[in-house]
Amino acid sequence: MSIKVRRLSYALGASVTGVDLTRPLDDATMAEVHKAWLEHLVLVFPGQDLTPEQQIAFGKRFGPLDDHKAVPFYRHPEYPEIYLITNHKIGGKSSETKDTGRLWHSDHSFTTRPTMATMLYCREIPPVGGNTMFANTYMAYDTLSDTLKGVLEKLEAVHSIAYYTAGHLQDRNPEQIAQMRKASPPVAQPVVRVHPETGRKALYVSEMMTSHFVGMTPEESRGLLQFLFGHSVRPEFTYRHAWNVNDLLMWDNRCVLHMAPADYTHEHPRHMHRLTVLGTPCGRAYEEAG
Ligand code: OGA
Ligand code: MN
Repeated sequence: MSIKVRRLSYALGASVTGVDLTRPLDDATMAEVHKAWLEHLVLVFPGQDLTPEQQIAFGKRFGPLDDHKAVPFYRHPEYPEIYLITNHKIGGKSSETKDTGRLWHSDHSFTTRPTMATMLYCREIPPVGGNTMFANTYMAYDTLSDTLKGVLEKLEAVHSIAYYTAGHLQDRNPEQIAQMRKASPPVAQPVVRVHPETGRKALYVSEMMTSHFVGMTPEESRGLLQFLFGHSVRPEFTYRHAWNVNDLLMWDNRCVLHMAPADYTHEHPRHMHRLTVLGTPCGRAYEEAG
């Protein structure tokens, strides 16, 4: 089978057609898909009508899947590998995943085993909006001056769920937040991350998760971090996906930031099945000096 890959923007993103994900892909096709993914960072497979089993089977071809034990509240009732990003009521209550990802981030950068690939499968989408945006962080790194590259390569930055929840998740249940914080103490991540498969360097900080540089105060860090947050997501480094039902989309968290702008209202359903492909270790546990 020969797949058809079409670029969706200058910076990143490509659609893949000529594959049927209801059936196992042969190894040669899988290799083509994998190569396209490393090249385009975000792949969209439109028009795939998949059962949860079929989505899980495809996801597993990329690596072991998370069973979302750390955040069990929104797992699919029958498939722990599927996490629901939804604005449907769950158990009669308003969903707490309905506003997932409102700021730029890379999934699970607040752990020492950050997500390699995230796969989102669209089941329901508002008539307009409900988009997801992506930014190419290789480009963000490549376009910095050599002097700043040199400075950043020596730095680590602190990523934490505590920072994330303090600033941006006030609508969540406090008990869940306490549980999430306990499960994930702060970590120090390299500011410049070397992609384990391509060997390319990518900027690895985000407005959602990154509080300060290791060895500096938040005040000392703020100016440079703000610059990097803005620079990482310059419009020319991005792709904005307008979803159709049955789009399966996957991105590489090692070189991509993403966010979900609030470009719709919850009167319209938005329902996604998300899979998390675990990555290789990155970063280290961080303890505040003194
Ligand atoms: C995610 C996420 C954004 C979206 O699933 O990790 O950030 O558009 N989702 O739902
Ligand atoms: Mn996310």
